[in-house]
Amino acid sequence: MRERIALPNIVMEDAMDLYPSIAQRKSCRKYDMRPLDTEVLDEIARAIDGFEPLYPDVALTWRFTKKVKGRFHVDAPHYLIASGTGAPGEMEAAGFLFEQLALWFDAMDIGCVWLGSSKDTETTDTKQDIIVLAFGNVEGSAHRTLDQFKRVPIGDITNAPDDTCIQAVHLAPSGMNTQPWYLEKHGDKVFVYEKKLKPPLSLAYKLSDIDMGIGLCHYAIACKEAGKNFSFTRDTSLPNKQGYLPFGIIE
Ligand SMILES: Cc1cc2nc3c(=O)[nH]c(=O)nc-3n(C[C@H](O)[C@H](O)[C@H](O)COP(=O)(O)O)c2cc1C
Repeated sequence: MRERIALPNIVMEDAMDLYPSIAQRKSCRKYDMRPLDTEVLDEIARAIDGFEPLYPDVALTWRFTKKVKGRFHVDAPHYLIASGTGAPGEMEAAGFLFEQLALWFDAMDIGCVWLGSSKDTETTDTKQDIIVLAFGNVEGSAHRTLDQFKRVPIGDITNAPDDTCIQAVHLAPSGMNTQPWYLEKHGDKVFVYEKKLKPPLSLAYKLSDIDMGIGLCHYAIACKEAGKNFSFTRDTSLPNKQGYLPFGIIE
């Protein structure tokens, strides 16, 4: 059955060029614990308002907090908590929206890292929380060079390794570096698949939809760079692909 959540025709038109950050960002895990100035936090809020949603009708909210805890924790002066309402598609929507923030942080020399198992400890009202981003000034550099990315060969995630938009997905972060995306190019369409994780990883890690949204964010930003429109439709009726779940179509 075809599951359609939204049919946006997205043209990313935010003020800051996020494309260069795709090839230099990294997960930062060592922070200067001094808090950022209030003006910087206000600027972050304004930047989020300017980002493009994956699905305009999927509502996401966010808040800052200073205390979270969980496995694979990283100490940072600030955390952003992204929340939803339980709507279908909100995990990839959160990945898509807040990866724009992760790239914006990189462009601003601020470090960040997604935290998949951490929970806000400043409130008990965390049921609708989706994901945490730790951020702040880093000790050392917030950037790296292309040769420092650890990724599977690009041929493992696509049949079109020369496509610059797919190359941008190849550099995207994912939980436990699972890189769950497969992008199969057919003319001007791209069938998007999500890798079925195998046990024990599949038991420990449930955030692949967020990773899919993060990958789509990199694709959309590379489209903007190339002067192309980006349109994504969730579609679970794609032809079967062994080891993968159908995810959607980029047109
Ligand atoms: C959804 C998600 C959850 C993540 N959770 C954690 C985490 O709990 N702790 C951590 O140190 N890194 C976490 N990461 C960072 C990944 O480990 C990292 O993105 C991946 O290893 C690739 O490295 P890179 O981001 O430096 O390119 C997470 C990333 C994503 C996208």
